[in-house]
Amino acid sequence: MATEPEPQSVLSPLTTAAIFLVLTVEEGGEDTARDLLADLGGLTRAIGFGAPDGRLSCVAGIGSDAWDRLFDHPRPAGLHPFTPLQGPRHRAVSTPGDLLFHLRATRLDLCFALAGQIMGRLRGAVALQDEVQGFKYLDVRDLLGFVDGTENPVGPAAREAVLVGAEDPAHAGGSYVIVQKYLHDLDGWNALPVEAQERIIGRTKATNIERDEDDSHVALNTVTGPDGEEQDILRDNMPFGSPGRGEFGTYFIGYSRTPDVTEQMLRNMFLGTSAAPHDRILDFSTALTGTLFYAPSADFLDDLPDAPGSGTAADAAAAPAPASVPAQAPARPAPDGSLGI
Ligand code: HEM
Repeated sequence: MATEPEPQSVLSPLTTAAIFLVLTVEEGGEDTARDLLADLGGLTRAIGFGAPDGRLSCVAGIGSDAWDRLFDHPRPAGLHPFTPLQGPRHRAVSTPGDLLFHLRATRLDLCFALAGQIMGRLRGAVALQDEVQGFKYLDVRDLLGFVDGTENPVGPAAREAVLVGAEDPAHAGGSYVIVQKYLHDLDGWNALPVEAQERIIGRTKATNIERDEDDSHVALNTVTGPDGEEQDILRDNMPFGSPGRGEFGTYFIGYSRTPDVTEQMLRNMFLGTSAAPHDRILDFSTALTGTLFYAPSADFLDDLPDAPGSGTAADAAAAPAPASVPAQAPARPAPDGSLGI
């Protein structure tokens, strides 16, 4: 029996530090992007090996527009551009992104070192769309002051919720990822009595106990399938911000086996349900970005399919040289083979 493809580290437990990089691939930068994706596992091991307690990991995601530019391989069934939503009061915007790198560790310096390697390799081949450095806040709270992540699935339930299976065999072991960068109106939020905040979230603030509301954030994000069973996603939200600039945010990231589940949650939040016209968390949180990616299995990255138009090996021998990447792009680590740390 064939062994199951090894996923990327999407199931890594919550860490204390993260960096989120969203990039677009420039015309002609595809080969450089492919080279980096193929080497990502090795780069992560090279930096993480010396600090095993740091639990450094990196998940790479591919955006819908980039798939056919990077791979001569069937598209993942659920990969499409992020669907923007315009609700009565709030908007979920769709923003560009060909590559996502979700770096996690117990130390920000490890994420930083790996992000530096990734960007060094991609320089000239990509344009930066967004970079966010996230941190664990107090006892795993978001900047609204509530414990965030409690109801994440764990163990076999997490694998079941997050990894593509037999429904799309060419992509088994992969996962869909939706990211949104939210900025909070913290002054407005903090002006609410705690009781009102708790009704909006659906949990108590100090003790993190679920409340029985049908129009809270928790209620709107409790989604059931056709058989009535609850459908989970795996969230790894991180607070970020700059007190000096008055910026206080939550970087939302949700992994799922099919994007449908996260998309249903977003529709409930932005377009409302019979119980609520919208999620009132949005009265204090503005989504500045929104992008959907597909994170292939680790095996897929280790043995990348051919580039589009590369044909068979025999064709390739006769084919012209691939388009060159911009001159300043270092396609490989430093000539001495060091990581340049
Ligand atoms: C639950 C915060 C955005 C999906 C929660 C909880 C908090 C929270 C505090 C309760 C504890 C927990 O179970 O984690 C936030 C903040 C957001 C945000 C600050 C950004 C402003 C989103 C988005 C989605 C989402 C965009 C989905 C598209 C969920 C789900 C739950 C949850 C599925 C668990 C519901 C359950 O109890 O079954 N969130 N969230 N959240 N959130 Fe969010």
